[in-house]
Amino acid sequence: MRTTQRLDKILAHMGIGSRTEIRKLAKSGAVTVNGRTARDSGLQVDPYNDRIEVRGNPVQYRKFVYIQLNKPQGVVSATEDNREKTVLDLLDRKLRAFEPFPVGRLDKDTEGLLLLTNDGKLAHELLSPRHHVPKTYFAEVDGPVGETEVKAFAGGLVLDDGYLTLPARLVVLGQGETPGTSRIELTLTEGKFHQVKRMFQAVGKRVLYLKRLSMGNLVLDRTLGPGEYRELTEQEVNGLLSSRS
Ligand code: URA
Repeated sequence: MRTTQRLDKILAHMGIGSRTEIRKLAKSGAVTVNGRTARDSGLQVDPYNDRIEVRGNPVQYRKFVYIQLNKPQGVVSATEDNREKTVLDLLDRKLRAFEPFPVGRLDKDTEGLLLLTNDGKLAHELLSPRHHVPKTYFAEVDGPVGETEVKAFAGGLVLDDGYLTLPARLVVLGQGETPGTSRIELTLTEGKFHQVKRMFQAVGKRVLYLKRLSMGNLVLDRTLGPGEYRELTEQEVNGLLSSRS
Protein backbone atom coordinates (compact mmCIF):
# COMPACT_ATOMS: atom_id res chain seq x y z
CA MET A 1 0.00 0.00 0.00
CA ARG A 2 1.19 3.50 -0.83
CA THR A 3 1.01 5.85 2.17
CA THR A 4 2.03 9.39 1.46
CA GLN A 5 2.97 12.39 3.58
CA ARG A 6 4.06 15.92 2.82
CA LEU A 7 7.70 16.11 1.78
CA ASP A 8 8.47 18.85 4.35
CA LYS A 9 7.00 16.74 7.15
CA ILE A 10 9.14 13.76 6.19
CA LEU A 11 12.32 15.83 5.98
CA ALA A 12 11.62 17.66 9.24
CA HIS A 13 11.07 14.29 10.95
CA MET A 14 14.45 13.17 9.64
CA GLY A 15 16.10 16.21 11.19
CA ILE A 16 16.94 17.94 7.91
CA GLY A 17 15.68 21.27 9.19
CA SER A 18 12.60 23.25 10.13
CA ARG A 19 9.63 23.36 7.76
CA THR A 20 10.70 26.88 6.65
CA GLU A 21 14.27 25.76 6.02
CA ILE A 22 13.01 22.79 4.06
CA ARG A 23 10.71 24.98 1.95
CA LYS A 24 13.71 27.13 1.00
CA LEU A 25 15.87 24.08 0.37
CA ALA A 26 13.27 22.57 -1.96
CA LYS A 27 12.79 25.89 -3.77
CA SER A 28 16.53 26.06 -4.38
CA GLY A 29 16.34 22.71 -6.20
CA ALA A 30 18.36 20.75 -3.63
CA VAL A 31 15.69 18.09 -3.08
CA THR A 32 14.82 15.33 -5.52
CA VAL A 33 12.16 12.64 -5.37
CA ASN A 34 12.76 9.62 -7.60
CA GLY A 35 15.37 11.62 -9.46
CA ARG A 36 13.15 14.62 -10.17
CA THR A 37 13.69 18.01 -8.57
CA ALA A 38 10.92 18.67 -6.07
CA ARG A 39 10.57 22.43 -5.64
CA ASP A 40 7.26 22.15 -3.80
CA SER A 41 7.85 21.01 -0.23
CA GLY A 42 4.16 20.21 0.07
CA LEU A 43 4.48 17.38 -2.44
CA GLN A 44 2.91 14.10 -1.31
CA VAL A 45 5.60 11.44 -1.07
CA ASP A 46 5.73 7.84 0.12
CA PRO A 47 8.68 7.90 2.54
CA TYR A 48 9.21 4.15 2.37
CA ASN A 49 8.99 3.65 -1.38
CA ASP A 50 9.97 6.94 -3.01
CA ARG A 51 13.66 7.79 -3.30
CA ILE A 52 14.29 11.13 -1.61
CA GLU A 53 17.64 12.88 -1.89
CA VAL A 54 18.88 16.12 -0.41
CA ARG A 55 21.86 17.60 -2.25
CA GLY A 56 22.40 14.17 -3.77
CA ASN A 57 22.38 12.37 -0.40
CA PRO A 58 19.69 9.71 0.05
CA VAL A 59 17.34 10.20 3.00
CA GLN A 60 16.73 6.85 4.67
CA TYR A 61 13.33 7.29 6.25
CA ARG A 62 12.35 5.62 9.50
CA LYS A 63 9.49 6.36 11.78
CA PHE A 64 10.86 5.31 15.13
CA VAL A 65 14.07 5.93 16.95
CA TYR A 66 15.41 4.00 19.96
CA ILE A 67 18.27 5.44 21.94
CA GLN A 68 20.09 4.27 25.03
CA LEU A 69 21.57 7.04 27.10
CA ASN A 70 23.94 6.66 30.01
CA LYS A 71 22.16 9.32 32.01
CA PRO A 72 24.56 11.44 34.03
CA GLN A 73 23.72 12.90 37.41
CA GLY A 74 22.32 16.43 37.39
CA VAL A 75 19.85 16.17 34.50
CA VAL A 76 16.16 15.44 34.75
CA SER A 77 14.29 12.69 32.89
CA ALA A 78 11.84 15.01 31.17
CA THR A 79 11.37 16.37 27.67
CA GLU A 80 11.36 19.96 28.87
CA ASP A 81 11.89 21.85 32.08
CA ASN A 82 11.99 25.58 32.76
CA ARG A 83 14.93 25.43 35.13
CA GLU A 84 16.75 22.15 34.83
CA LYS A 85 18.77 20.59 32.04
CA THR A 86 16.88 17.62 30.60
CA VAL A 87 18.02 14.35 29.04
CA LEU A 88 16.73 15.68 25.69
CA ASP A 89 19.25 18.53 25.90
CA LEU A 90 22.00 15.90 25.67
CA LEU A 91 20.88 14.60 22.26
CA ASP A 92 21.97 16.00 18.91
CA ARG A 93 19.52 17.93 16.75
CA LYS A 94 18.92 15.07 14.32
CA LEU A 95 17.81 12.69 17.05
CA ARG A 96 15.74 15.37 18.80
CA ALA A 97 13.82 15.87 15.53
CA PHE A 98 12.27 12.42 16.08
CA GLU A 99 10.72 13.81 19.27
CA PRO A 100 11.86 11.00 21.55
CA PHE A 101 10.86 10.89 25.21
CA PRO A 102 12.30 8.98 28.16
CA VAL A 103 10.70 5.63 28.94
CA GLY A 104 10.13 6.05 32.65
CA ARG A 105 12.20 8.22 34.91
CA LEU A 106 15.46 8.16 36.74
CA ASP A 107 15.96 10.63 39.59
CA LYS A 108 18.11 13.68 38.96
CA ASP A 109 20.94 12.12 40.98
CA THR A 110 20.60 8.63 39.41
CA GLU A 111 22.89 7.56 36.59
CA GLY A 112 22.70 4.84 34.00
CA LEU A 113 20.47 3.26 31.42
CA LEU A 114 17.66 5.41 30.12
CA LEU A 115 15.77 4.40 27.00
CA LEU A 116 14.45 7.20 24.82
CA THR A 117 12.08 6.55 21.96
CA ASN A 118 9.16 8.00 20.02
CA ASP A 119 7.51 4.57 19.91
CA GLY A 120 4.63 5.17 22.30
CA LYS A 121 3.31 1.63 22.08
CA LEU A 122 6.62 0.05 23.09
CA ALA A 123 7.09 2.60 25.89
CA HIS A 124 3.63 1.90 27.20
CA GLU A 125 4.20 -1.84 27.19
CA LEU A 126 7.57 -1.59 28.92
CA LEU A 127 6.10 0.62 31.63
CA SER A 128 2.84 -1.24 32.07
CA PRO A 129 2.64 -2.77 35.56
CA ARG A 130 1.05 -5.85 33.96
CA HIS A 131 4.26 -6.81 32.18
CA HIS A 132 6.65 -6.76 35.19
CA VAL A 133 9.64 -5.79 33.06
CA PRO A 134 12.69 -6.29 35.33
CA LYS A 135 15.07 -3.40 35.99
CA THR A 136 18.45 -3.94 37.62
CA TYR A 137 20.27 -1.27 39.59
CA PHE A 138 23.70 -0.97 41.11
CA ALA A 139 23.83 1.00 44.35
CA GLU A 140 26.15 2.04 47.12
CA VAL A 141 24.33 2.01 50.40
CA ASP A 142 25.28 3.47 53.76
CA GLY A 143 25.96 0.74 56.33
CA PRO A 144 26.18 -3.03 56.12
CA VAL A 145 23.79 -5.00 53.91
CA GLY A 146 23.48 -8.76 54.42
CA GLU A 147 21.24 -11.80 54.54
CA THR A 148 18.59 -10.04 56.66
CA GLU A 149 18.07 -7.44 53.94
CA VAL A 150 18.25 -10.02 51.14
CA LYS A 151 15.41 -11.94 52.82
CA ALA A 152 13.42 -8.80 53.57
CA PHE A 153 13.63 -7.62 49.94
CA ALA A 154 12.70 -11.09 48.68
CA GLY A 155 9.55 -11.03 50.78
CA GLY A 156 8.48 -7.54 49.66
CA LEU A 157 8.74 -4.41 51.77
CA VAL A 158 6.23 -1.92 53.07
CA LEU A 159 7.12 1.57 51.84
CA ASP A 160 6.51 4.86 53.65
CA ASP A 161 3.06 5.20 52.05
CA GLY A 162 1.99 1.69 53.14
CA TYR A 163 2.52 0.12 49.69
CA LEU A 164 3.75 -3.50 49.80
CA THR A 165 6.31 -3.99 47.05
CA LEU A 166 6.61 -7.06 44.91
CA PRO A 167 9.49 -9.39 45.84
CA ALA A 168 12.83 -7.96 44.72
CA ARG A 169 16.17 -9.70 44.17
CA LEU A 170 18.96 -8.19 46.21
CA VAL A 171 22.53 -9.31 45.64
CA VAL A 172 25.27 -8.10 47.99
CA LEU A 173 28.47 -7.45 46.04
CA GLY A 174 30.65 -6.46 48.97
CA GLN A 175 31.95 -3.39 50.71
CA GLY A 176 31.80 -0.01 49.03
CA GLU A 177 34.79 2.22 48.36
CA THR A 178 33.99 4.34 51.38
CA PRO A 179 34.46 2.42 54.65
CA GLY A 180 31.15 1.34 56.16
CA THR A 181 29.27 1.30 52.86
CA SER A 182 27.96 -1.64 50.81
CA ARG A 183 27.72 -2.32 47.10
CA ILE A 184 24.63 -4.11 45.90
CA GLU A 185 22.60 -5.03 42.85
CA LEU A 186 18.84 -4.93 43.04
CA THR A 187 16.31 -6.19 40.50
CA LEU A 188 12.78 -4.83 40.62
CA THR A 189 9.81 -5.86 38.52
CA GLU A 190 7.86 -2.67 39.10
CA GLY A 191 8.65 1.01 39.11
CA LYS A 192 7.22 3.00 41.97
CA PHE A 193 8.44 6.54 42.60
CA HIS A 194 11.96 6.52 44.14
CA GLN A 195 11.49 2.80 44.65
CA VAL A 196 15.08 1.73 45.27
CA LYS A 197 15.70 4.54 47.73
CA ARG A 198 12.42 3.93 49.51
CA MET A 199 12.99 0.18 49.78
CA PHE A 200 16.31 0.80 51.50
CA GLN A 201 14.68 3.43 53.65
CA ALA A 202 12.20 0.73 54.70
CA VAL A 203 15.11 -1.27 56.14
CA GLY A 204 16.69 1.81 57.72
CA LYS A 205 19.39 2.42 55.10
CA ARG A 206 20.27 5.24 52.77
CA VAL A 207 21.24 4.96 49.11
CA LEU A 208 24.36 7.02 48.44
CA TYR A 209 24.77 6.29 44.74
CA LEU A 210 22.40 4.73 42.23
CA LYS A 211 22.87 3.57 38.67
CA ARG A 212 20.52 1.59 36.42
CA LEU A 213 22.22 -1.27 34.61
CA SER A 214 19.42 -2.88 32.63
CA MET A 215 15.79 -2.73 31.65
CA GLY A 216 14.24 -5.93 30.35
CA ASN A 217 16.71 -7.42 27.88
CA LEU A 218 18.43 -4.11 27.29
CA VAL A 219 21.76 -3.76 29.09
CA LEU A 220 23.65 -0.50 29.53
CA ASP A 221 26.50 -0.31 27.04
CA ARG A 222 29.56 -0.08 29.29
CA THR A 223 31.48 1.85 26.64
CA LEU A 224 29.10 4.80 27.06
CA GLY A 225 30.37 7.34 29.56
CA PRO A 226 27.90 9.46 31.55
CA GLY A 227 26.03 11.71 29.10
CA GLU A 228 26.88 9.54 26.10
CA TYR A 229 24.29 7.72 24.02
CA ARG A 230 23.78 5.61 20.94
CA GLU A 231 20.94 4.21 18.92
CA LEU A 232 19.92 0.64 19.68
CA THR A 233 20.83 -2.12 17.29
CA GLU A 234 18.00 -3.98 15.58
CA GLN A 235 18.73 -6.93 17.83
CA GLU A 236 18.38 -4.76 20.94
CA VAL A 237 15.05 -3.37 19.72
CA ASN A 238 13.75 -6.88 19.07
CA GLY A 239 15.06 -7.97 22.48
CA LEU A 240 13.13 -5.16 24.15
CA LEU A 241 9.93 -6.33 22.53
CA SER A 242 10.42 -9.73 24.11
CA SER A 243 11.18 -8.23 27.56
CA ARG A 244 7.47 -8.25 28.36
CA SER A 245 6.24 -11.26 30.25
N1 URA B 1 14.63 4.05 42.24
C1 URA B 1 15.02 5.22 42.77
O1 URA B 1 14.95 5.42 43.98
N2 URA B 1 15.50 6.17 41.94
C2 URA B 1 15.62 6.01 40.61
O2 URA B 1 16.07 6.91 39.90
C3 URA B 1 15.22 4.77 40.07
C4 URA B 1 14.72 3.81 40.91
